[in-house]
Parts: sequence; C-alpha cells; structure tokens
Amino acid sequence: MNDSMFSLLWTFVWLCSMGFLVLSCGDPIINNNTSGNRNNQANANQNTTATTNNNNTSGNRNNQANANQNANQNVNNSNTNSNTNSNTNGNSNSNTNGTSKTTYHKDVRAILVKSCEGCHYKDGVGPFPLTTYQETKAFSSLIKKAVQSRIMPPYPADSNCQEYRHNPSLSQKEIDTISRWVDEGNVEGSPADYKKPDNLARNIGLSRVDMTLTMPTAYTPAVKDGNGKPITDDYRCFVIPWTKKEDVYVSGFQIKAGNAALVHHVIAYVSSSKNAEKFKELDRKEAGPGYRCFGGPRGSAQWLGVWAPGKPGGDYPKGTGILVRPGSVVIIQMHYNTLQKKTGPDQTSVQLKIDKKVERQAFFAPIASTGWKIPKGMKNYKHNKVMKNPAPVPLTIHSVMFHMHLLGTSGGLTLHKADGSKTCLLNIPKWDFDWQFAYDLKKPILALPTDKIGIQCVWDNSAENQAVVNGKRLKPRDVTWGDGSTDEMCLGVLYVTP
Ligand code: HEC
Repeated sequence: MNDSMFSLLWTFVWLCSMGFLVLSCGDPIINNNTSGNRNNQANANQNTTATTNNNNTSGNRNNQANANQNANQNVNNSNTNSNTNSNTNGNSNSNTNGTSKTTYHKDVRAILVKSCEGCHYKDGVGPFPLTTYQETKAFSSLIKKAVQSRIMPPYPADSNCQEYRHNPSLSQKEIDTISRWVDEGNVEGSPADYKKPDNLARNIGLSRVDMTLTMPTAYTPAVKDGNGKPITDDYRCFVIPWTKKEDVYVSGFQIKAGNAALVHHVIAYVSSSKNAEKFKELDRKEAGPGYRCFGGPRGSAQWLGVWAPGKPGGDYPKGTGILVRPGSVVIIQMHYNTLQKKTGPDQTSVQLKIDKKVERQAFFAPIASTGWKIPKGMKNYKHNKVMKNPAPVPLTIHSVMFHMHLLGTSGGLTLHKADGSKTCLLNIPKWDFDWQFAYDLKKPILALPTDKIGIQCVWDNSAENQAVVNGKRLKPRDVTWGDGSTDEMCLGVLYVTP
C-alpha cells in the first residue's frame, strides 16, 4: 500500500475515533451483562460435572438452546457435504460391518477435534477439556445430550447467508455417530485408527505466541465509583509500551484471563507514537494501576483485537495483520463485572502472533447505528439502517462480527452494491449474548466506496425479556444506545484490508 492510501486510511480510523462516522468506534464489543448468563459459564468452569446451569436467572439460557437449534439447522443443510467428507470417512467401514463397535479413536475423536476441542481444551472457554479418551468418556452422556439437542457446538450464524471458515456445526451423521458411541458403552478402540480431520473447525488458540503483554500489576476491580456509589461494572485501561523497534504486524490475538470469573470483555487498542504520551498521561494522573475508561480508551487509538464471551482466540485471516509502529502503546481495556462474583485481583495477558511482513495490512472497521429508541414493553422492535461506506478506498472484508446487548433477538449486516444488488454478510437469526464470534468469510468480499452497508437489529423489550439482576427481573424502560448493561447497541465490526 502506498503512503497516501495509508494516510487516507488513518484518516478513516481517526474520523472513526472522533465519532464522525459512527457514534463511538471504540465502544466495547461487550458490555455490562447483568443477566447472570456469563456467570453460568463461570460456574460451569468450576463445576466440571456440568449439570445444566444451576444458577441461571436470566431466562436467556433457554433462548440459547433455541438459538443454537435454529442456527444449526440452517448450518446443517449447507454443510452436510463437507462434514461428511472430512469426518465420517472411517464410519462407513465400521458401521456397515455389524461386528465392530463405534470407537473413540476410529469414529468420535476426529469429530471432537474438529468441532469441540477449539473451546474444550485445558485453558479454553469450554468448562472442561475434551481432548483425551478419559475426558470424553467422563462426560459422554452429557455430550450425547448436548449434541442431540444441538446446544453444542454453539453457532448462531445462518450459513445460508454466507459460508464461514471454521464452522464447527455437526452433520446429523456425526451426531448419530457420537450417540451410537455412547450407547455402545464408550469403547476406546486403537489410537492407530485415528484419522486427523482435514480442516479444523476452530483455531485452537494462536498457532504461535510471539509476544505476551501482561497488565503491569494485578488490579482489583472497584466496587464503588469515585463518589462511593456501588458499581458492578468497572472499565479499566492499562497502558503497555510497545518495545519493537521496527514496523510489525499483529496477525493473531488471544487472551489469558487472570481472573476469568470477573472478566467480561477485553479490547486491546494500539495508539500511534504521536498519541502514546496522552495515554501514558491518563495512566499517570490516576491513582492505582491503569485508568478508568468507560466506553472507550479516551483517546484516538485503533483496535488491535477483541475478546468477547464465547470467542476463542486465534490467528487473523491468513496473510493479514494490523500494523504496529515503533513508539506506540497498547491499551488493554478490561471490562470487569462484579455483579455475581466478589471482586479480587486480576492480571490478564494479551498474547499476540506477530509477523514482520503480511500480504495485506488490516483494520477493524466498526459499523454502528445509533439514534433509535426501543419503546418499553415493545416485543419486536426493528431498526434498519443503510449507511454510506466510510472508506475512501475499496476494501476487502475478511471477517464479520456483530454486537447487541441482552434485549437483542436477531440481526445482521448486508452489503448494498451500487447496482442495487445485495450481499448478506452475516445473519444471526437468534441473537445470543453468550456466543459472539468473529465469522471469517470463506470467500472475502470486496466493498467499493460506492457501496453501502446495511445493519439490522431487532430487540425484545417486553416485560418477560428483561435481565434478571440479583434474582429480580428488571422493569422495562425505553432503551437507547449506551455502554450500560441495560442499554443497547447495534454494532457490526468488519475486519478489512484495503
Ligand atoms: C465456541 C466454543 C465451544 C465449542 C466449539 C463447543 N463448546 Fe461445549 N461448551 C462451551 C461452553 C462455554 C460451555 C459452558 C457454557 C454453556 O453451557 O453454555 C460448554 C458446555 C458444554 C457441555 C455441558 C453442557 C451442559 O449441559 O451443561 C457439553 C457436554 C459440551 N459443551 C460439549 C461440547 C461438544 C461435544 C462440542 C463439540 C461437538 C462442544 N461442546 C463445542 C463452549 C464450546
């Protein structure tokens, strides 16, 4: 990319951070979640017998099951082929031959590696690892239930809209294989029979960790604001100087949460060297580690990576990365929630994959639509907006994320071409706050400056759909854009290259 293009893009990023193009590009992708949903996950983490969601007060969990059912049904139609090819190879031999039983190594392991291990590994977001025979056997009846009901693997995107890489959804045949294995008594079989799946459904974390940025000291999230008023959400930014002496590209991102039960989201930003001092100053001016940063890092900085509930870390699309120049600082924005858990010290790390060169420099481009008001009590409030493409140059869209809060029920993003045709980028038929993935497009899509981007958000603001806080369901109220748990957002984030 030549220099003038580069500066155009920086203008884009800058405008963005000044709030001209979208209300708030630095808005956290995840916000205060008072539903107790996230807590289920934390509970599950501790309670590896994983009975279904003891503590769920939100009612969202049910939605989740439905969400996954619907989404997966769609997914299944279009994916049966690839799944069958890659994962059930061994099956037909073994199962038509009535004498041999379904075994872990021959039939089940490859399915788990493809569709489950990306989250269910030792430090993964899944509550227990499913990486060995013993681990899998221990949870086998739960596994059968979870796959038959299509609660697992979670996958809210509609794949009739687009095809995405790393789609973990199971074909009916794979579900049947797992169920049969459980019914036949969890036979282990011989490791020699294992055939590695052709492509993994998910990156299991980063393919390489080249740099680890850790919060300088542990921080204990505040439970009172500056005026002594109790708070349950603490947004804190930590500034870490960038030590590399030459231009490099961040080509993958993951989080190691210090105190996972308290961490609701993490966004890492990178500033230019010009702005670095401003962030250091914010840090210096405030007592204790870091500084308060509700809503954004309080200055102009670009997204480097984001971690949200349910989102395992991983490599960015191949050949792409985010440029970081010498003299920058990285700002790690932590959103802590202490609603269900007592506060305690956290020292989270960001792990990065770094390349000296990439084929294409990438940017996160937030697409936000604001200015709506969801009337209290309204069950099915739709907001649709078609916006000008803010970029002055053609952009290739590689990956799509979408974000609403707890009242969201469905939504998505569409590219409107100048010739009037439309391309669906992402459709989430049943929104679920717990599963917010980055969807990598199988075929990246070109967006021209003359194209427009449409965003749709649908919310349910009826009395029955309100978040439950401390065991009490909140009363409906008119809801607008905001960072608070009971505010809403209508936000898409595109990972693009010029
Ligand atoms: C995107 C990450 C992710 C993937 C992929 C995934 N899981 Fe999970 N799984 C989780 C999380 C997080 C939980 C705990 C929260 C919950 O139950 O919603 C969970 C919970 C479970 C449970 C406990 C369910 C219960 O009833 O409490 C089982 C069993 C399970 N997963 C099996 C699987 C299997 C089998 C696969 C693959 C076919 C899979 N998971 C794929 C993240 C994942």
